[in-house]
Amino acid sequence: MSITNFPAGQGSASAGIPVTKVTMPALAEMKRQGKPISALTAYDYSSSRLADEAGIDLLLVGDSLAMVVLGHENTLAVTVDEMLHHTRAVRRAVRRALVVSDMPFGSYHGTVAEGLANAVRFVKEAGAEAVKIEGPRMGLVRALTEAEIPVVGHLGLTPQSLHRMGGYRVQARTAETAEKLKHDALALAEAGAGALVLEGVPREVAGAITAGLPIPTIGIGAGPECDGQILVYHDLLGLTFAPAAKFVRRYADAGSLVREAIEHYREDVEHRLFPSDLESYHLPQAARTESETESEKAEAPGKA
Ligand code: KIV
Repeated sequence: MSITNFPAGQGSASAGIPVTKVTMPALAEMKRQGKPISALTAYDYSSSRLADEAGIDLLLVGDSLAMVVLGHENTLAVTVDEMLHHTRAVRRAVRRALVVSDMPFGSYHGTVAEGLANAVRFVKEAGAEAVKIEGPRMGLVRALTEAEIPVVGHLGLTPQSLHRMGGYRVQARTAETAEKLKHDALALAEAGAGALVLEGVPREVAGAITAGLPIPTIGIGAGPECDGQILVYHDLLGLTFAPAAKFVRRYADAGSLVREAIEHYREDVEHRLFPSDLESYHLPQAARTESETESEKAEAPGKA
């Protein structure tokens, strides 16, 4: 365990940004004002708290959790219970950002009633403020909206459709598929979605959708015209093990930093350089004197 002090979060004080809670209506207002929305994925307490304190507007407990945290090959394996577990950790860390949970594959692909019941769990049991679902599922979005659960839609390259798409491919590259994407985006907004993630689509298509949509778009691999941008935490920090996708900008090489720090620690242990005397607890002086006297007696039993 760590007994290092970890007091409750103070909002975004370290970034000098006042703690005004970001809500779904606040995102719409940002679009109206032309203020870009910053979004990032989040999976645990400490990293979410850092992201929140850095002033990120929206934290998505993404099902990319399956890959970057749990080591699965794709996002399909992660379960509702695993997503709930991580959403709770993020929720405990965040004071300002809007916390959105991804509904995992299989949790909303059956009946609308099943999707609704699973979405309720994210709000009730884990404190999510909105759920994200992939695909043009207008019926479900309508039901969730009626049940007071804010929804973020997700169109374009939808990783849960991996097998149907035949791989992670940029979508809407023809006039016909671009038109279909625009139509689906509008339909989701009309059904009640409060924001829309556009992933892996040509910049021109994302720009046109953003311009014609009443709700904010949040792009990932969708160009700069979107109302906001989202990246996967591990991609942004260089905590991945493969070359980054074209749309990723690595803001740090935390992978090397972490590896070097751990190597340094291992070497210190192997050379008995850690812990030092200063990093050790000591007996109080009185107990030390007593124990020294006892050892002296043990060494010279005939004396005194
Ligand atoms: O799970 C995820 O990481 C996502 C992306 C849109 C960021 O859904």
